[in-house]
Amino acid sequence: MKKILIKHFTIAASVALVGCTGAYNDIYKDSSASVDNRVQSLLSQMTLEEKIGQLNQRSMWGSDDEAMAYFTSEVAVGNIGSLLNVPDAESADSIQRVAVEKTRLGIPLILSRDVIHGYKTIFPIPLGQAATFDTALVKAGARIAAIEASSDGIRWTFSPMIDIARDPRWGRIAEGSGEDVFLASMMARAQVEGYQGDDLSSPTSIAACAKHFVGYGASESGRDYNSTYIPERQLRNVYLPPFEEACKAGCLTYMSSFNDNDGIPASGNKFVLTDVLRGEWGFKGFVVSDWASVGEMVNHGFCADMCDAAATGFNAGVDMEMESQTYINNMKQLINDGKVSMSQLDKSVANILRVKFMLGLFENPYISTPQEIKYAEEHLQAAKQAAIESAVLLKNDNYTLPLSADKIRRVLLTGPLADAPHDQLGTWVFDGDKTHTVTVLDGICKLYGDKVSVVYEPGLAFSRDDNKASIAKAVAAAHGVDAIIAVVGEEAILSGEAHSLADLNLVGGQSSLIEALAKVGKPLVTVVMAGRPLTIGKQVDESNALLYSFHPGTMGGEALAELIFGKVSPSGKLPVTFPKAVGQIPIYYNKNNTGRPALGNETLLKDIPLDAGQTSLGCTSFWMDAGFGPLFPFGYGLSYGDFKYSDIATDKDTYKVGDVIVASATLTNEGKYPATEVAQLYIRDHVGSVTRPVKELKGFKRQYLEPGESAQVVFELPVEQLAFYGIDMKKKVEPGDFTLWIGGNSDCQLSVSFKIEN
Ligand code: NOJ
Repeated sequence: MKKILIKHFTIAASVALVGCTGAYNDIYKDSSASVDNRVQSLLSQMTLEEKIGQLNQRSMWGSDDEAMAYFTSEVAVGNIGSLLNVPDAESADSIQRVAVEKTRLGIPLILSRDVIHGYKTIFPIPLGQAATFDTALVKAGARIAAIEASSDGIRWTFSPMIDIARDPRWGRIAEGSGEDVFLASMMARAQVEGYQGDDLSSPTSIAACAKHFVGYGASESGRDYNSTYIPERQLRNVYLPPFEEACKAGCLTYMSSFNDNDGIPASGNKFVLTDVLRGEWGFKGFVVSDWASVGEMVNHGFCADMCDAAATGFNAGVDMEMESQTYINNMKQLINDGKVSMSQLDKSVANILRVKFMLGLFENPYISTPQEIKYAEEHLQAAKQAAIESAVLLKNDNYTLPLSADKIRRVLLTGPLADAPHDQLGTWVFDGDKTHTVTVLDGICKLYGDKVSVVYEPGLAFSRDDNKASIAKAVAAAHGVDAIIAVVGEEAILSGEAHSLADLNLVGGQSSLIEALAKVGKPLVTVVMAGRPLTIGKQVDESNALLYSFHPGTMGGEALAELIFGKVSPSGKLPVTFPKAVGQIPIYYNKNNTGRPALGNETLLKDIPLDAGQTSLGCTSFWMDAGFGPLFPFGYGLSYGDFKYSDIATDKDTYKVGDVIVASATLTNEGKYPATEVAQLYIRDHVGSVTRPVKELKGFKRQYLEPGESAQVVFELPVEQLAFYGIDMKKKVEPGDFTLWIGGNSDCQLSVSFKIEN
């Protein structure tokens, strides 16, 4: 009976009890009481102003006395529920002390920050981490980020970023897991589990924030903040699933995005923020707006003024507002005018308090993680492993790689990213200290400097540099060595938020540098560090081997040294399709077939005869100047091993909903080097109530094999995972014929058929 009472405890009931007993008032302080009871006990004692204060999140830039004095006084009067960007541990504890010890009810702040791919120890950018296809490693990286961040009082990170992104012009593609729904969903779960840990109330657990909700990655033309036009079915089949997976993993918070989708700014979109997130998925945490995105609904032309924006954002489902202060300035008036209901306000405040209780902030408001945990040796080793696994080998003619440290006497290390401690960390690094970075120069000298003489001539000082004299110096040095390692790409500032590009060729004089080095005729190994896929077809042709390491983070240099000299084999796979040319964008593997798919024998621009007849080239879906395919498909990546797939099979020919498809293939390493392969499972649903993609990733597994060794890779695929939103906008599995592939990338050919019956 008691249990039932607690379950149905309502705000009205709690209010009725206020003042009856001091004991009830104190329930919120009692850690043995249920979270719901604690929330209601506290809520019932809060004034309107205190409630509104909980909805307000401010950024505390600057550590000067004036900033500290201002924010301390705001916290003291209960005007702030959360701060982001508190400058250091001392300020964090000091301002938290004001919230806990100087305010009437002692409600702690939830201190937050953008801890995106590591806090102090920087891991590869999220796109690079996705290239590992290693969820355990990604989870461990998020755990490390949480431990380090909590040592400075941060208990909430604005990560994971799980926007599906199919446009590398968009600089924020760096922050997510790429183009694929399944991979992004698995990475979302891994990161949420890593940040939040096994016990939310542990002082090292930090709340995750699934962002940006939703559709932001589809910004038109890759220009950041631009509008999106995602119809509901595509939203449900492509953009929402990673967010649903984050919810299933227990993600405590969501962030509404900047974009307007089909005319509705995300921070004013009740359908996604309330109907889907809370109604369909049962989300119990809270939603924070992206930076000023509530106020920006005025710029969008969706709200008349800041007061209107506050009502629109709040009523749509944004519980906490980041920075634009429309709630704190207008909420009282909105309540008085009846434009926002008191019960809705109570619900939002309860959502925020619930998370604060779950994180144990009332019991442990101050820092207890030791400061020395930052850059711990095991953190650095995990970051190195992530950098190793994130590198994707895109070309390796005649086993140019690995270089043999016993045979090669002199190597030229060149390129603007070869010794770039800041830039190899990548975008969204506020806290990583570049003095801890191990660059490629450091890594090679440290690990192989006793065997190989390293000539370092950068060629260009930074990626946009175009100094021809420096290029000439590097080229001159190339004549006297046995092999060339050129590390090119993008500075960190060229990707990330608001850093979109219209041209994806190497910037500055880098293309000339590679071209000139190639002409020297020595084995040329090109390493690319970048925040996005670049159009590197020319460099692929000119290089004997090419490794794409995205921005690999603090330990990237040691990781690359070990990969280049063969201590380990590359195993990364592309989490996103690499276009040949910008004009192919958006290009992604899980496209629909169209009514006129390319046949592969289309006439390309250079072969079109003069005066060719209008229809003589064939009428299929392709680009005359770029063909049909990409430069590299999703899932692609070579290794020093030589992997072959054979003997694909499923355990049955026909399945029903509720069954599990057991699919397997034999994987053999026919090469000379031990290596790890990421085996991938794809399916195609041939006929649907709506058109279906030509391939969809449904599973992946990392498999290590010695030379000559074979293994059976086995996947268990629940039939439910074939469900999608069809013609009636209901999610279900449709019966019919399917093809299933197992292979090393999305272009794999080894397949088997099966049927789904009702
Ligand atoms: C804006 C970005 O879009 C978001 O990703 C970030 O978390 C917030 N600013 C806070 O810095």
